[in-house]
Amino acid sequence: MLSEKMQNELNEQLNYELFSAYVYFSMEAYFLDKNLNGFANWMHVQAMEEMTHVLKFFNFLHESDGRVLLKPVEGPRTEWGSSLEAFEEAYAHEQSVTRRIHNIVDLALQEKDFATHSFLQWFVNEQVEEENNAKQNVQNVKMVSDNSGAIFLLDRELAARVFVPPAASAE
Ligand code: FEO
Repeated sequence: MLSEKMQNELNEQLNYELFSAYVYFSMEAYFLDKNLNGFANWMHVQAMEEMTHVLKFFNFLHESDGRVLLKPVEGPRTEWGSSLEAFEEAYAHEQSVTRRIHNIVDLALQEKDFATHSFLQWFVNEQVEEENNAKQNVQNVKMVSDNSGAIFLLDRELAARVFVPPAASAE
């Protein structure tokens, strides 16, 4: 049984995961417009992953006798000054997701809500990978700078990222 406060926090996080998908879909659109289809693909896969995070919160709330309460999703930014600026924002965004997840873990410990604490461990671990990937992108984009040949190669590399639906992965 979830406390009312925990139910609110989990619904807030569900909303933030939806917002995360919006952010990455918006970055996908930005890169498609710039003909950087590999960068766009990376953002598309990221957005799809965020949707699986949304469903995890949705299902956990329902299975824990909570109530899923959907709220309006904030509109994402639609323009960036450069590819680097977009990737830096993606990294900062993931850091903010981590902070939010950690705050809910903290609440679960305070409330001795061990089921929610256990559920959140998947996200604690996932965020290590999410931040690392986002940071790697920032470093790579910084390295290629304005070298168009190197940008072409990095774009091709990011085009290889594939979305793996949770049912086919280890979850
Ligand atoms: Fe669901 Fe990228 O945090």
